[in-house]
Amino acid sequence: MCGIVGYIGNKPVYDILINGLKKLEYRGYDSAGIMLYDKTSVIKKSKGKVADLESLFTNKEDKKGSVGIGHTRWATHGPPNQINSHPHVSNSGEISLVHNGIIENYHSIKSVLLKKGYVFESDTDSEVLVNLIEDIKKSKKIKLGKAVYYALKQVVGAYAIAVFDSTNPNEIVTAKLGSPLAIGIGKSEYYIGSDPSPFLEFTKRCIYLNDHEMAIINLKKGLTLREIKEDSILDPFIEELEHDIEEVEKGGYDHFMLKEIFEQPQSIKDTFRGRLISASTPIKISSIEKHFDKFKSAKRIIFISCGTSWHAGLLAEYYFEELLRIPVEVEYASEFRYRNPIINKGDIVIPISQSGETADTLAAIKMAKEKGAFLYGICNVVGSTIARETHTGVYTHAGSEIGVASTKAFSCQISLLLLMALDIGKRLGTIEESRYKRVIKELAIIPQILEKVLSKSKHIENVSENFLDAANFLYLGRGYQFPIALEGALKLKEISYIHAEGYPAAEMKHGPIALIDESMPIVVIATKKGHYHKIVSNVLEIKARGGQIIAIVSEGDTEIKKLADHVIEIPNCDELIAPILANIPLQLLSYYIANKKGCNVDQPRNLAKSVTVE
Ligand code: F6R
Repeated sequence: MCGIVGYIGNKPVYDILINGLKKLEYRGYDSAGIMLYDKTSVIKKSKGKVADLESLFTNKEDKKGSVGIGHTRWATHGPPNQINSHPHVSNSGEISLVHNGIIENYHSIKSVLLKKGYVFESDTDSEVLVNLIEDIKKSKKIKLGKAVYYALKQVVGAYAIAVFDSTNPNEIVTAKLGSPLAIGIGKSEYYIGSDPSPFLEFTKRCIYLNDHEMAIINLKKGLTLREIKEDSILDPFIEELEHDIEEVEKGGYDHFMLKEIFEQPQSIKDTFRGRLISASTPIKISSIEKHFDKFKSAKRIIFISCGTSWHAGLLAEYYFEELLRIPVEVEYASEFRYRNPIINKGDIVIPISQSGETADTLAAIKMAKEKGAFLYGICNVVGSTIARETHTGVYTHAGSEIGVASTKAFSCQISLLLLMALDIGKRLGTIEESRYKRVIKELAIIPQILEKVLSKSKHIENVSENFLDAANFLYLGRGYQFPIALEGALKLKEISYIHAEGYPAAEMKHGPIALIDESMPIVVIATKKGHYHKIVSNVLEIKARGGQIIAIVSEGDTEIKKLADHVIEIPNCDELIAPILANIPLQLLSYYIANKKGCNVDQPRNLAKSVTVE
């Protein structure tokens, strides 16, 4: 959470920082601030969005300078207000710092600094860190880089930082542990970002800092990379990025979320590229080919993840048990990491994550690794920490997902998980050849089928009009559609703030049925095959109690159509594929309801895109 930016070079820095922060707002958006230097430092901070910060810069003079740092915040220590916003400044006023992460031992450091006479304005751990750096710099009479190095040696926690010292304005010092940090290399200029989006339009040459690394960026001397634990100098590895700037623009859509929903046919094509070439060629996932022995001898597979990615894991449980006949468990990473889970030799742990930075998932990975599990990661963000911490894995290649509510990343996760299950099942001989062929044939054309589902968006928008005043929603599904019911409910609550719960349809009569009356909308996923007739009975039970039914049905359905208040059809397909399709109308329904209610769809309150704190 939180986004940091920085620039040092010869261009006017103000626009670079402000535009960069806007690109990073998905990481946190409860307050923002920047520091620019031109003979003296100008610092402005504001509660709210980057646009609120911009409105403070009414004077042209304040926008001057070609070095600066900035921050967009997701509050951890202290409420989101102007004082707790970054950059934080040391007591002398010389050093300013932006920080993404948490300093866990800030209390003890703060008490030492208080005894030395330091004063603190804010409630933050970051203000403690900047004063610790100042204290070390002044007492040891050393340069900023060395002072940051000694300070970080004392710190317990996670950080991506950019630090500026007005007594040496040719330099910015950065460091990383746990939180991401990228440095863009231009011609005699350097950009800093929590991800490369702030500088993609200027340079594609990028260094991703690894944990325990710091970079001293000096306009005259260039960039020096150090390993903090070993205190050694490293050769920086400069990557040539392949991202397109269009990926991080809205491309004519009102919101990133809507754009990302409509991108799904292309995203799934990208997920399948080189892996599912045609219905008649074998699936090729190189990390599975290479490590097939591990899957062959696996006694158990454990999926670990959070939120939407956890829902992908839940669906994977259905896919993997059915097609591989290997026992599967699905765990919330946040619970798993604090239990003392039994992990046996031969267990495969599969973390699933869009961002590849989720703190709980990362901690669970580290624990599983220590206990000897084989870690096979599924991530979207290339080069992310989770991708690097796992033994091997596969990228979803969904492209940049900027909307805070995950849409295309989830569709790519579940499509990839099905592809993996088919591939491993075929190799193990646990799936019938005819079934394998039938599903592959449909999977190969899934982008076209999704286009058809998306073409119903106007109808879904019309349906949404009926529910803008709803206070609660239920989502029901069975079998493969149960995880989709959970995901549909999560999507609605996070962006529209309408309370929504997902249930296995048969569980309704064990409690939630008490909630049903005329004011309760119930989304029922009732696609053909699977448990269709059982779902019809559930729909009758709802109808008898006056609930309003929105049914997701297969084309040509007649039975549920007669009972439901609103019907959304999806193409007929194999039951393994149906969840991938059924999820799309639920995303659209949430989007239209939230948008019509005037909610901030891309940046829902209290949320952040990548949750790098516990
Ligand atoms: C919901 C959502 C979150 C994430 C969760 C895990 O729309 O986006 O629930 O799925 O925070 O994040 P990743 O997948 O990045 O590990």
